[in-house]
Amino acid sequence: MVIKEAKFISSNTRAEQCPQTELPEYAFIGRSNVGKSSLINMLTNRLKLAKTSSFPGKTQLINHFLINDTWYLVDLPGYGWAKVSKDSREDWRKMIKYYLQHRNNLACVFVLIDSRLPPQKPDLEFMEQLGTMGIPFVLIFTKIDKQSSVKTDANIAFFMKSLEDTWEEMPRYMKSSSVSKDGRDEILAFIEDVNKRYKDMLKSEKQ
Ligand code: GTP
Ligand code: MG
Repeated sequence: MVIKEAKFISSNTRAEQCPQTELPEYAFIGRSNVGKSSLINMLTNRLKLAKTSSFPGKTQLINHFLINDTWYLVDLPGYGWAKVSKDSREDWRKMIKYYLQHRNNLACVFVLIDSRLPPQKPDLEFMEQLGTMGIPFVLIFTKIDKQSSVKTDANIAFFMKSLEDTWEEMPRYMKSSSVSKDGRDEILAFIEDVNKRYKDMLKSEKQ
């Protein structure tokens, strides 16, 4: 898919304030600093569309970006970063949960996981929440440029193995690097495919 246009639309705290639309949206979520905003910039080929920082906690609101006038990317604040105050963490948690429960046009959530780390409790808990809410998600293992592909693959295998106890069906996963642009084609092809199915679903609902 070619990204012809990527526009920042709005930053909000509540789902109702977000764009009123039937267009499908894809939300990026994961621990602070995992690379959500960088991945949005990498996918759209816009260096400064979403604000990034080496200091965790940069993204604090629900940010909508309209792509090709037909679908949205949504940058969310991260969860589970100890250096953010407990109150802020709780506020973000509530804001994210409310958003997830109230966006009817949420086509898929991308759960970003640092490819270098062993399974982290906040990530596993968040995936379980999505499962309980019945929200479709895929995993994206980020920052794969930071280590060898052998290490990345071993880490991913270990992560997926750890899901076997709780998940009947394994979630789909992809790998990415915002530096080398690995994963860009696969993620965009995935979005294109879901967009098509989403359009067909809307059409059949209206008939
Ligand atoms: P919050 O908004 O705080 O939740 O963080 P975020 O998940 O949006 O992370 P962000 O995109 O701001 O990136 C955090 C840091 O990781 C920045 O210093 C990025 O340059 C760096 N980074 C992100 N993705 C990659 C990647 O694929 N490879 C490398 N080497 N660095 C990355
Ligand atoms: Mg961010």
